Amino acid sequence: MLLNRQRRRAVIAGAVTVATAALGIGLSTQFASAQAATLRAAADAIGKDIGVAVAYDQLMNNATYRNTVATEFNSLTAENAMKWDATEPQDGNYTFTQADAIVDFAEDNGQSVHGHTFVWHSQTPSWVQNLSGTALQAAMVDHINTVANRYEGRVESWDVVNEVVSDSNGAMRDSFWLRGLGEGFVTTAFQTARAADPNADLYINDYSIEADNAKSDRIYTIAQGLKSQNLLDGVGFQSHLILGQVPSTMEANLQRFVDLGLKVRITELDIRLQTPADGSELAQQAADYERVVNICAELADCSGVTVWGLRDGDSWVPDVFPGYGAPLLFNDDYSKKPAYTSTLNALGGDGTEEPTTSQPATTTPPPSGSGCTATLSVQSPWNTGATYAGTVKANQALTGWTVTWTWPGSERISNSWSIQGTLSGATVTGSNAAYNGTLAAGQTTTFGFNITKADGSTASVPTVTCTPA
Ligand code: XIL
Repeated sequence: MLLNRQRRRAVIAGAVTVATAALGIGLSTQFASAQAATLRAAADAIGKDIGVAVAYDQLMNNATYRNTVATEFNSLTAENAMKWDATEPQDGNYTFTQADAIVDFAEDNGQSVHGHTFVWHSQTPSWVQNLSGTALQAAMVDHINTVANRYEGRVESWDVVNEVVSDSNGAMRDSFWLRGLGEGFVTTAFQTARAADPNADLYINDYSIEADNAKSDRIYTIAQGLKSQNLLDGVGFQSHLILGQVPSTMEANLQRFVDLGLKVRITELDIRLQTPADGSELAQQAADYERVVNICAELADCSGVTVWGLRDGDSWVPDVFPGYGAPLLFNDDYSKKPAYTSTLNALGGDGTEEPTTSQPATTTPPPSGSGCTATLSVQSPWNTGATYAGTVKANQALTGWTVTWTWPGSERISNSWSIQGTLSGATVTGSNAAYNGTLAAGQTTTFGFNITKADGSTASVPTVTCTPA
């Protein structure tokens, strides 16, 4: 946990990543106004999480899915793998294969994990639902303790309770939890989670609370009570929205929770439409995404935005809302939808954010006239690794570039994006990817990578030499 907190703090002061206006692919005009080439780089630069809910099967079996998740997102949520039916299908019989794999993946890629979820009325096995009173409470306490302890220090934040308020008049949801334990189950869950992992951020999570309404009023009352006992750190707004219906009160509503001293987070964003989508609907969807992501980007206490799935075909929406779909940022072939571009823009603050470089990014002062200049900066360090951002600036028109440096210590690149070459040893020699080699004079492009390093050592910033190809 501490490590993850350090990661977030470090990225708040993260380095500037600058536009790649000359991506040699068809999307170049869409990127022209963006300040960073990936959602991840843009979010890192403003100190926000951009998360995605991941499906275990895809993560295991699909390399393109894996690469996209690693490249575009700095935070992961298990779409199903941390739910009770996945982690404790029988009483006391815990199975962590899937959840472990997702946490390992996140760690390998320098990503934080938002845990979902301990106490929910859904996807909870019948052996739990058939309990009541002290037996139900004991099962809940054991479950929270076991799962929270297993991921202590690796999962940054938890949805402790999910969907505990009903859709009518802000009453508590009529669930086996409420019937078996009374309203006190919410406080018990938070007390247990707080004791189990004192450093994790604890969230209450729900849907249809984005607007100021009876349901969000009830969440507000619960949040106030938990906060006064120091049991709550944040409120998760699932944000399963419908095209054109971002609530007009969303910003003010999130603000009132921030005013309680809480973080807010968009935890499960998708914006569904009636399929098939036409161009104007995709444009409206882009505008809706931009609005939601902007609200979080401009609210200092909004920890981030998680989208509920990678590609439209991965989404839960068509199964649950017949006739609706296409709610996410990527098409099934991984091409980027207009909503991707607007999300990228919103993370860049619509061009109004000017993140400053705090790590002394080592600029190689070029002999005048030398073809390119490169910088490296540490974006997110953790104990045994770090994420770096690199920039290449063309001092003349370029058709390709090569950067090289030598690590002074134990740092070694484990994975990378937008750069290729001999990267894994002490001396790194990397060249542009297929799409970021052609640069006009004055133009800048970005690349990035993760390193592993000796436990606790400082991630160094070596001097980079850049030469035109
Ligand atoms: C959904 C998953 O996306 C589906 O794969 C699963 O079949 C059902 O649950 N609110 C939540 C999420 O808190 O856990 C739900 O996820 C979507 C609604």
